[in-house]
Amino acid sequence: MTTSTGLDIRRIGGRIGAELLGVDLSADLDPAVVTEINSALLEHKALVFRDQNLDDAAQLRFVSLFGELTTAHPTVPSVDGRPHILPVDGDEGIRANHWHTDVTFVRTPPKASTLRSLVVPPYGGNTLIANTAAAYRDLPAPLRELADKLWAVHTNDFDYAAHAAPKNEKAAEHRRRFVSRKYRTAHPVVRVHPETGERGLFIGGFAQSIVGLGPSDSRDLLRIFQSYVTRPENIVRVAWTPGDLVLFDNRITQHYAPDDYGDLPRLLHRVTVAGDVPAGVDGTLSHVVEGDDASHYTPAAA
Ligand code: SIN
Repeated sequence: MTTSTGLDIRRIGGRIGAELLGVDLSADLDPAVVTEINSALLEHKALVFRDQNLDDAAQLRFVSLFGELTTAHPTVPSVDGRPHILPVDGDEGIRANHWHTDVTFVRTPPKASTLRSLVVPPYGGNTLIANTAAAYRDLPAPLRELADKLWAVHTNDFDYAAHAAPKNEKAAEHRRRFVSRKYRTAHPVVRVHPETGERGLFIGGFAQSIVGLGPSDSRDLLRIFQSYVTRPENIVRVAWTPGDLVLFDNRITQHYAPDDYGDLPRLLHRVTVAGDVPAGVDGTLSHVVEGDDASHYTPAAA
């Protein structure tokens, strides 16, 4: 489909994902173009812009068109001299090979995330992005009604027993930094999207327990809900080439970066837009259980 401003929007997945052609993200974008990109983001949830070859400054400028930026991360250091850019560097043990929504352990997780590819391996190193609204719609009615009522506690000190142990000293150091400050936040299991009103499963790898349930029941229920998120129908797979940029709606997606590229180099730069406080189906807002309000990380905390 070609929009009135000349954007060429091509779907790349049945339920999530589109590639946008006909736009140079390094240019001074007309507000009408930004509005159309935002509409495409709401509809397709993950947008791929090929061959943009932005530098850090241009990525920051583009992402700022969608709102105030967060800093790189609540605990992980930024790129030197670029406080808003997180280096996703496989050599430094930053390999996000678990399903998650970015930074859900704070009260105001990012609204949107961008990843820009600087160095990509010749094979592997893709990013998978899942549509959590489609997952919610796929639930049988009794599970949907149950999910609507549940809350989950999310933490950055998540259950590594359920994940692979750090495989080298760099990965272990990354893990130590990641948990150097502890956050726990209660979010609704079903989040209502603030712009579209769509309902989506708001869980993922940082969701540790269901409020009011013990560890075993929590694990089982989260596993059942998560199995709907990770159905192949609900996923788009992005195979990177250097110079690409991917923008996704962090309020209604999860993502996963398979660690399937051995010791080959892979480097992305991530910049995220600050988000609001999630609301459940009855309008109740997320709340902090432990830790500070993360105001050093996101202006939304103020
Ligand atoms: C991330 O979770 O932000 C990184 C995703 C990726 O490495 O593709």
